[in-house]
Amino acid sequence: MKIITKSALLLTALLVTTSAYAGAEDGKELFEEAKCMECHNAEDFDNSKKVKNFHQLQTRVDACQRNTGAEWFDEDTHDVAEYLNKEHYKFKK
Ligand code: HEC
Repeated sequence: MKIITKSALLLTALLVTTSAYAGAEDGKELFEEAKCMECHNAEDFDNSKKVKNFHQLQTRVDACQRNTGAEWFDEDTHDVAEYLNKEHYKFKK
């Protein structure tokens, strides 16, 4: 049991590190499908005064996706935050 938990954790860590770029790619697709731009334009993300770090960005994306009923998993939310970060916010992580 302990071994299984450990390898699951290791695998997750591996996936998280190797998918940082793929995450942004998936995030782009999710973002476009969810019609986020019905309320937003690129300027919202480029000139943000509210979001100060990647964690806040992710929290905000999560709040908005809930409002739209997109029903993303945490991983999807993370991918979209990666995408917005890459294109607009450019926070260092
Ligand atoms: C119904 C309109 C609406 C839709 C659709 C919407 N949002 Fe938002 N979003 C808002 C509003 C309003 C705010 C500002 C909230 C505030 O001022 O605290 C916001 C804020 C944000 C921010 C923070 C902007 C900043 O100041 O840096 C992000 C990031 C964001 N939304 C992402 C998304 C994503 C991703 C989606 C698609 C899943 C989405 N939003 C869909 C209304 C919307």
